[in-house]
Amino acid sequence: MNKNFKVIILAAGKGVRMNSELPKVMQPICGKPMLEFVLDNVKVLKLKDITLVLGFRADLVRAILDKDIKIVMQKKLLGTGDAVKIALAKLKGFKGSCLILNGDNPLVNAKSMHNLMKAHIQSGASATFLTANVDNPHGFGRVVRDNYSRVTKISEDIDAGGLQRQINEINAGVYCFKAPELLKALNKIKPKNKKKEFYLTDIIETFLNEGFKIETVTAEDKFEALGINTRCDLALANEIMRTRILNEHMERGVTIISPEMTFIYPHVSIGRDTIIYPFTVIESDVIIGKNCSIGPFCHLRPGTKVEDSVVLGNFVEVSRSKIGKDTLAKHFSFLGDAQVGKKVNIGAGVVTANFDGENKNITKIDDEALIGSDTILVAPVRIGKKAITGAGCVVTKHKDVPSGKVALGVPARIVKKKNK
Ligand code: UD1
Ligand code: CA
Repeated sequence: MNKNFKVIILAAGKGVRMNSELPKVMQPICGKPMLEFVLDNVKVLKLKDITLVLGFRADLVRAILDKDIKIVMQKKLLGTGDAVKIALAKLKGFKGSCLILNGDNPLVNAKSMHNLMKAHIQSGASATFLTANVDNPHGFGRVVRDNYSRVTKISEDIDAGGLQRQINEINAGVYCFKAPELLKALNKIKPKNKKKEFYLTDIIETFLNEGFKIETVTAEDKFEALGINTRCDLALANEIMRTRILNEHMERGVTIISPEMTFIYPHVSIGRDTIIYPFTVIESDVIIGKNCSIGPFCHLRPGTKVEDSVVLGNFVEVSRSKIGKDTLAKHFSFLGDAQVGKKVNIGAGVVTANFDGENKNITKIDDEALIGSDTILVAPVRIGKKAITGAGCVVTKHKDVPSGKVALGVPARIVKKKNK
């Protein structure tokens, strides 16, 4: 069903109230531009035909987009209605339905979008939109209904007066429209409002005047409707998203000692019975196995894979690295571009010096090696199986330590075979 919908995402706005050089949809939530959450949902729903309306600093937005997303430019920000009109011009002749999303509503769940599309198809309505009942409707379009609970219009915050201001049901900014009817109605709306903009939301009244059917679906989670307009909204959205992500991990069997003090970005996988201690930051594109112990104050960065039963303790930072099963790095370490084997013991203060000023280089540490406290491994370098480095030793690049040997000093020299 979903694949018959064409998607339009509105993201041309500058986000004046953000007071930023970045276009609003590029502002990060849990480490990722908010637009990516919207695009992720579209992907989850297997929607393929996506048109994105861009304007302010489109170059910055383009940089994060998949190639198959169509882009249309809205040169003058004349309002959401105008933005949709420009997108529809690109989809000329399309007879099906569009799913229209605000790029600044990253908290909408894929499930709500799915429910909306389903309701739209089943009811045969010309327009179906998502609403939410919120405690504080300030800043949002209010859903105005008649005595029979039928929608009569969406009244924008700035234009809503009197009793309308007290309505708690708001427009979440997620809509399904039959495209031909939408196009016709868009040609009829006028910027007769305080902002002098073409409001997409005026389509509702226009449709009702034509006798077209309108349906609504209510979001399960009131936070889904939180559009981001200010830095305060951004902070709140960050907190809500962070909590959602942590809850998902806990449901899958991960222990998080202090959810208030733990930061996990999207696209992280963590195995069962792993414990995450406070003040840990785990960025996107990280995989952690089962029964690991991570933190406190651990920082795992993109491209990191941690196998089962690994301990990464306080002030350990790992980036673009693989850490093998049963390996321990319990105190103060930086492991970058490292390929660490199984049952390796990484002492306190060990650092992989991976960057030579031009390139990032790889450090290999083979199974059961013991890296003494304060060792510096200048990459590219390899520490062999069961090899040992002494405390404070600096292993310089290409001076690999062979399996079973001991390296000591600065610069490190191989002293002998390891005592068995
Ligand atoms: C909009 C809705 C409001 C709803 C709220 C939900 C309208 C008129 N109002 O209000 O009913 O409650 O979202 O969050 O639609 N954009 C463009 N081109 C433009 C103007 C906006 O692409 O000319 C984009 C923005 O970049 C943004 C989205 O459309 O991603 C929504 O625009 P915004 O100005 O934030 O609308 P709201 O006032 O929040
Ligand atoms: Ca908004």
